[in-house]
Amino acid sequence: MKNTKSLFLGFLLASSVLLTGAAKAQKPVIRIQADETVAKINPLFYGLMTEEINYSYDGGLYAELIRNRAFKDNAATPDHWSVVTEGEAKGSIALDSIPQPGTALTRNLRLDIEANEKGRAGAANSGYWGIPVKPNTTYQASFYAKTGNGFGGTLTLSLESNDGKILAKATVKATGKEWKKYNVTLKTGKMTESLNNRFVISAQQKGTVWLSLVSLFPPIYKNRPNGNRPDLMEMLAEMKPAFLRFPGGNYLQGKSLATRFDWKQTVGDLTQRPTHLNDAWKYHSSDGMGLIEFMHWCEDLKMEPVLGVFAGFMLLDKNPMTGDTLKPYIDDALNQIEYLTGDATTHWGAKRIKDGHPEAFKINYVEVGNEDFFDKKRTYDHRFAAFYDAIKARYPHIKVIASDHVKSRPADLTDLHHYFKLEKAIKLAHAYDNYDRKRGKVFIGEYACREGKPTTNFKAALGDAIFLTGLERNADLVEMTCYAPLFVNVNKGGMQWPSNLIGYNGLGCYGSPSYYMQTVFAKNVGDEVVKSSIENIPMSADTTEQLFYSVTKSSQNGTLYLKVVNLSDKVQTVQIDINSAGKVLPQAEMTLLTAEKRDDTNTIAEPKKITPKSMKISVSGNTFDYEFKPNSITVLKINQTK
Ligand code: AHR
Repeated sequence: MKNTKSLFLGFLLASSVLLTGAAKAQKPVIRIQADETVAKINPLFYGLMTEEINYSYDGGLYAELIRNRAFKDNAATPDHWSVVTEGEAKGSIALDSIPQPGTALTRNLRLDIEANEKGRAGAANSGYWGIPVKPNTTYQASFYAKTGNGFGGTLTLSLESNDGKILAKATVKATGKEWKKYNVTLKTGKMTESLNNRFVISAQQKGTVWLSLVSLFPPIYKNRPNGNRPDLMEMLAEMKPAFLRFPGGNYLQGKSLATRFDWKQTVGDLTQRPTHLNDAWKYHSSDGMGLIEFMHWCEDLKMEPVLGVFAGFMLLDKNPMTGDTLKPYIDDALNQIEYLTGDATTHWGAKRIKDGHPEAFKINYVEVGNEDFFDKKRTYDHRFAAFYDAIKARYPHIKVIASDHVKSRPADLTDLHHYFKLEKAIKLAHAYDNYDRKRGKVFIGEYACREGKPTTNFKAALGDAIFLTGLERNADLVEMTCYAPLFVNVNKGGMQWPSNLIGYNGLGCYGSPSYYMQTVFAKNVGDEVVKSSIENIPMSADTTEQLFYSVTKSSQNGTLYLKVVNLSDKVQTVQIDINSAGKVLPQAEMTLLTAEKRDDTNTIAEPKKITPKSMKISVSGNTFDYEFKPNSITVLKINQTK
């Protein structure tokens, strides 16, 4: 018996030696010096970036339901329009170019009808992958028309399912050889919402009708005429975005002068907008989302506009404009700012007022070009200097942002873009720790961890969160951040860029896991970064870091926001050690975003598979342990006495 006991004791001793001998990982510690502020966080830290890509506006945020409303998508055929004939009626449709005096609309649809009470003929529009129709909803239709060849009658407008069920209907008397605008209201009743529908203009008459700028709007966010989809605007509002970088991206540049974002062609009444080919992303832009609409979008969500101006460098351009050839584009940028901010005594301010916007907008940030590091002739420094001098001379308060590193002038911010895989996010977490502060302040104007499509998956959310913790820790340098691309229409053919934040079809929308992570991050940020450090960082077998964090504090009430990403597949128990004049209060709040598998994602069919969960938690004193779940993003909101 004695022997057995000593054997057992011997075994216990040996195993404890084994346990300590096997270099048992030490508990990670995050030390927070809560009273030592190392940086102020710019109130504009979390914002949005947007451009016309993936049907972001047309077929996306911009609420117009008619596709190819100005008949400019294709010079040869009336794409997305088809002829409708029923009963004994005959009809045909064709593109035409009957002038519409005083407008920029050069093309229209000719509808030849041979019909009577025994049948109808007309034109149908199939919308952006269908016309979404909802119950008990009012739709505003409008169009320009002129008639000929004896047409003297009634046009019927209808919303109908693709298998022929009428969902809403109204009539309008349309006659006359002159172009005239018609406005018609369509109302649905009790029905099930659906997408497989079309919009039809038809007649039971004989004659010819020319149609131009055919439009159909559902209810709009804040009832702004020519405005945006409420569901998408509400999703954006949830992100608490402080600024909007627009209009691109490659969309700003275009592949040729004619296809750049030429702001002058996007303002005024819709009849004054010729529309343009968005060749950067290979589809036609209606320009319904024009310069003023971007500003309305900013107003509606209380965002600071960050206005991108064309800088004489197109996409894939081998010969950027310099010297005198650049001059008109510098003038164009100054005119653009004047259009937005000028009063009635200025040429362009007066034009804005004439366009229906008496109040001047405020512009505090202008970005010169986009991704000018693609300029192989290295002319950007020279081009930036010319824009910088001209803008500062006229508008000294404007912060001028460079789209690449420059030496010629002290750019107020340099816009740097990061697209990466999760593995790279681990390195990027420290990309700005040792960045030379003498190079000036940084704007991360585009970033995304590119995992999953058409919207990114949970793996990407981990990567984006890791990257953002690094940016928050370096907020003395990084002033603003925004993800790209923001939107994707998830229908087949809707996506040009395969990693996006928010997906939708005509009826619904959803956020990727990264959307939810960004929403949580933007809502849980203080105005100061406090001194902190981490010890015993857990490492993976291939010696990559597994724990990432940032700490910010509200200077008003001392609340600490600790963001932690646990990349490992194990629970990580971390000691949180808060050194502060204040006392940590027991009641804290925890928000957790996690998923069963890294490639889990949200979709239009399963939009809420991965969403954050918040709960109250108790913490004990200024030093406490917290167990961070495997593969998780956690935000702890820790309250303390002042
Ligand atoms: O976000 C998609 C594209 O990526 C942007 O248009 C461009 O700026 C970048 O290369």
